[in-house]
Amino acid sequence: MSLAGKNIFVTGGLGFIGSHTVLVLLEHGATVHLIDNMSNSFERVFEHMKKLAGDKADKMKFTKCDINDKETLTKIFEKETFDCVIHFAGYKAVGESVDKPLEYYHNNFVGTVILLEVMRQFKCKNMVFSSSCTVYGLPEEVPITESAPLKAISPYGRTKLFQEDMFRDLAVSDKEWRILLLRYFNPIGAHPSGDLGEHPVGIPNNLMPYIQQVALGQREFLRVFGNDYPTPDGTAVRDYIHVMDLAEGHVSAVVKTLATPDLGCTPINLGTGTGSSVLEMIKAFEGASGKKVEYRLVDRRAGDSVAVWAATETAEKQLGWKSKYNVDDMCKHQWAWASKYPQGYETPL
Ligand code: UD1
Repeated sequence: MSLAGKNIFVTGGLGFIGSHTVLVLLEHGATVHLIDNMSNSFERVFEHMKKLAGDKADKMKFTKCDINDKETLTKIFEKETFDCVIHFAGYKAVGESVDKPLEYYHNNFVGTVILLEVMRQFKCKNMVFSSSCTVYGLPEEVPITESAPLKAISPYGRTKLFQEDMFRDLAVSDKEWRILLLRYFNPIGAHPSGDLGEHPVGIPNNLMPYIQQVALGQREFLRVFGNDYPTPDGTAVRDYIHVMDLAEGHVSAVVKTLATPDLGCTPINLGTGTGSSVLEMIKAFEGASGKKVEYRLVDRRAGDSVAVWAATETAEKQLGWKSKYNVDDMCKHQWAWASKYPQGYETPL
């Protein structure tokens, strides 16, 4: 699959999924201009990316820029022609979105309106969007297909759903738009080299960064939210997907977008199609790290689903893409990153 000669604009390119995706885009021959406002990332990410990109490092360019900054976006689009935009930038903490809904709507929704206006002005109408399985709310059945009912249950989830709605409206209004909505399940893991990974700012909300910190001895124990779910071991089940698989999925998505004039606005799940429980993930991480992950069973977390995993047929059919890594690989690579950079991008070099 080649993206040789293609120039891709990436928002949120220093984030967890963005940074891994940029590297994989380079591997497939693309050139990339990435932006990030650094609100939830580190400038040093780009140094790590350059190291991994090797002789392809000169094919990527970074500009510090917020998607709300129309002037800077316009300047970038004046200078370069882009074949496609991959839009990752956005706030993503569910709990925080409940406390700061306006910030979430402004950054995620208004910022996306501004980005789309600039894209339209410069006639770049190809977009791959970072959506989430959160748009399915509390799903009624698994595996979840793309036609499952949409219902967000948090301000964060609504910002994703509203963006999706806006993209659907846009594609109806103007047939030139081609928009692929990628609904990610639970991205984890790290670059297999251990030189790139996830670095959440503050106390992690998500399971795997928390497990990692317990294994490193940075936190005493993990709280397992609920062990009375109707699942085999009583803990909630999720579809964890390796960030490198996700990155490859974006390459396939860009190829598909560029090759499909009548794409309109299409949603595609990116997951593995299998679920793992919280206790299974603890065990897998212990196996990969050789460390004990202490945990305590506590009450369920409000708003959590029992079991979530993806139907993957659409991705296989439409993108020719399928995940390759299992949870042991995900934990192994995440531990490679964690043990090399215990303070993430703040680890002294
Ligand atoms: C969360 C977000 C979701 C987002 C997704 C992907 C919530 C409610 N949802 O989903 O919108 O799209 O991340 O990044 O935050 N768990 C523990 N202890 C912990 C942390 C988590 O037991 O300290 C459990 C959770 O109850 C859940 C599983 O681990 O069963 C995964 O949790 P998490 O990583 O937060 O992901 P999701 O809740 O699936």
